[in-house]
Amino acid sequence: MEKTVSDAIKYRRSVRKFDSKKDLDDDLVKKCIINASLAPTSSNLQLWEFYHITDKNLLSKISKCCFNQPAAKTAKQIIVTVVRRDLWRKRAKANLIFFKSKKNSLSNKQFKLTQKYYKEIVPFVYKDFLRILSLLKYLFAYIIGFFRVMYRQLNHSDLRIIAHKSAALASQNFMISMAGFNYDTCPMEGFDSIKVKRILKLNSKSEINMIIGCGIRLEEGVYGERFRIPFEKIYYKR
Ligand SMILES: Cc1cc2nc3c(=O)[nH]c(=O)nc-3n(C[C@H](O)[C@H](O)[C@H](O)COP(=O)(O)O)c2cc1C
Repeated sequence: MEKTVSDAIKYRRSVRKFDSKKDLDDDLVKKCIINASLAPTSSNLQLWEFYHITDKNLLSKISKCCFNQPAAKTAKQIIVTVVRRDLWRKRAKANLIFFKSKKNSLSNKQFKLTQKYYKEIVPFVYKDFLRILSLLKYLFAYIIGFFRVMYRQLNHSDLRIIAHKSAALASQNFMISMAGFNYDTCPMEGFDSIKVKRILKLNSKSEINMIIGCGIRLEEGVYGERFRIPFEKIYYKR
């Protein structure tokens, strides 16, 4: 039976050694990727792609690019979460089409708001030219910010962070879903992104958010007890 969310969160550990004798069900892993795609995403732009690697040859190539760290080397499958900031126009258009198809169930005001959001606000935030436009927008927001509350995440690195935040949330959805089925994962950022992009023939504008080794844990694959900073040192109620 699938675990409750709290149980899955507790069960999830970064597993570095997976059982070579236990395989994963591709469809179940795919179901967890579908859950990943249900994560919240900034402006609902879904600037992500998920690569589900099951081919042994590819697994070995990717493991090499992860420095053959145990979580990659022993992984039965690997998921690569990819950020595609360059797709913002297409995704905004997809949202527009979606809201047009739902026009009858929206009030006129709601419908107009969605149109304005995806036709004006999203392009204002995402449009860039050689990083100059985003810098100008950032400076503009900085000045206006002296006089009123202002949205400021407008420069090139802000936009990267926004897209990576959403992709990381999707990755977490994936890992929790896997834990729900007693499957294990290990998120990795120790990898050669250029080589992985080449191996997976990714679009040049792609950015790899996370590589996730997947399998079923060996007890020695969990490196000791979970350590967390005492909660009272990180929790502030105001
Ligand atoms: C963004 C990110 C990158 C990580 N990169 C690696 C990695 O390259 N190799 C690895 O073995 N673990 C990696 N980890 C796993 C962390 O070391 C692990 O989450 C942390 O020690 C806490 O342990 P837990 O996940 O078992 O609770 C990464 C975790 C995150 C969130």
